[in-house]
Formats: sequence, C-alpha cells, structure tokens
Amino acid sequence: MRLETVFGLKGRTALVTGSSRGIGAAIAKGLAGAGAHVILHGTSAGGAAGVQKHISSMGGTAQELAEDLSAPGAGRELIKRAEAIAPVDILVINASAQINATLADLTPEDLAFQFSVNLGSTVDMLQTALPLMTARKWGRVVSIGSVNQLHPKGIVTAYAATKAAQHNLIQSQARDYARDNVLLNTLAPGLIDTDRNAHRRDSDPEGWEEYARTLNWMGRAGQPDEMVGAAILLSSQACSFMTGETVFLTGGY
Ligand SMILES: NC(=O)c1ccc[n+]([C@@H]2O[C@H](COP(=O)([O-])OP(=O)(O)OC[C@H]3O[C@@H](n4cnc5c(N)ncnc54)[C@H](OP(=O)(O)O)[C@@H]3O)[C@@H](O)[C@H]2O)c1
Repeated sequence: MRLETVFGLKGRTALVTGSSRGIGAAIAKGLAGAGAHVILHGTSAGGAAGVQKHISSMGGTAQELAEDLSAPGAGRELIKRAEAIAPVDILVINASAQINATLADLTPEDLAFQFSVNLGSTVDMLQTALPLMTARKWGRVVSIGSVNQLHPKGIVTAYAATKAAQHNLIQSQARDYARDNVLLNTLAPGLIDTDRNAHRRDSDPEGWEEYARTLNWMGRAGQPDEMVGAAILLSSQACSFMTGETVFLTGGY
C-alpha cells in the first residue's frame, strides 16, 4: 500500500481550533503538508495570519475563522461557518483554557470559564459536526487532551478535570459513531514548550530546566512539531480500525 493512501489527506478539509499558535499551529501545518485544506482558528481575526502564510509558502491552502469559544453557542457557530467553506472531514479540538489554581483557590468564575471553553464548546462542536460526518460516511475527530486527564495535578484541578471529561465525551461518541466510519480519538501531550508555559520558562529558566529534567523519562519538554505525526495518524486512513483511544506523547511518564 502506498504511504499516500494510508496517511495522505488530499481532498480532505481539516478545522483545527486554536491553530494561531502552539500545538494547534504545528498540527495545522502538518495536516496541510499531508495535503489537507486547513481552516485555521483563533480568538481574533488575523491571529493566524502567520500560520496561513507559512502554509501557503509550502504550497498548501488555508483559511482562517475567528471565534471566542467561551461564548455560548460559539462551537456550533464555528462548525457552521467552517462547513460554509467546505465539508469538515477532520475536526481537531485543540483550543483550551488553562487557569492554574488549586481546589482551595479555584473561583466559580474560573471554573465556569474553563468548563465553557474546554467542555461546552466541545459538546457544541460534536453535536454539530458528527451528524454531518455521519451523512458523508467519513470523519475524524482528534481531541487534544493532556497527561493531566490521567495523572492530574492539584495546581490545575479544574483544567485537568475538563480534560478527563473531554476524553470521556470522545469515548462515548466513538462508540456511538463507530459504525459510520466517524472515528474519534484523543492525542494527549505532556509538557510542551508553547506560549502556555512561556511565563514559567522565561521567569525562571533554571527552575524550568530542572522541572522538565525530572518530569518525564526523556528529561525535556516536547516541541509542538513532535505532535504532528500522531495528529496525522489520527486524522487519516491510517487509524481506520482505531476509535475511542488515547495516544500519549509525554516523553515517557
Ligand atoms: N503546552 C502544554 O504543555 C500542553 C500540555 C498538555 C496539553 N496541552 C493542550 O494542547 C492544546 C494546545 O495547547 P498550547 O500549549 O499550544 O496552547 P497555547 O499556546 O496557549 O495556544 C492556545 C490556542 O487556543 C486558542 N484559544 C485559547 N482560548 C480560546 C478561546 N476562548 N476561544 C478560542 N480560542 C482560544 C488560542 O487563540 P489566540 O491565539 O487567539 O489566543 C491559541 O490558538 C490545549 O488543548 C492544551 O490544553 C498543552
């Protein structure tokens, strides 16, 4: 079998939420490199312009949509707007909110915000996208989870709980849609060097190095590009007998 037949995404359209930077940007570039038309997304218009330019310079195609996923119904609206561009074959649920707070320090506002971005919009997007994928008899959902969904840390109590719940949603829907060739899986990263961790890395470089050295077996943070291979696997024909699973990319944990 040709590599292109297994991993190629020519003719497919992928919506990658939160692809203006970080892991989402790397995955969007990777899917475009595999041949997909990519719909980029961030909170504000023009935020993904750099990623769009990069994809064009590689000979790929991409468009951008802005939507704040903390707003009620925003996930539904985002899918509708993306479907007006092209049928969304691949949905990468990557955007998330992370507020560091222990249970004792967690405010109702911070809890509600993380629930709305991480879970509310996921429910909205799945409710809207899955019936359309089912009608077309082909769909891939790649949900970006976290090592915290399985090994939660107290400093990210609410965030970790949303990641566990998000994967639970993916599993129930994977079961319900398995016979429609609509496959849903989770890609769960460990510590990755993105803007999310920039404050910690830049304010205490030595502490950051030490943290990364002892956190996983490889003794370092991962890079966003290291998420791309697994994302292509879960977006392509390559995962045709795989659904409801989690691929952990943690450097050994
Ligand atoms: N970095 C890590 O160590 C790590 C580890 C495990 C899991 N993850 C997961 O990996 C995914 C990507 O993380 P990352 O580190 O690449 O994140 P990041 O650098 O903080 O980027 C977050 C992305 O999500 C978008 N976003 C944030 N809030 C949003 C909202 N309310 N509405 C719409 N879009 C929003 C941002 O858009 P703007 O640019 O417009 O703000 C940006 O594109 C997340 O699901 C995260 O939980 C990350």
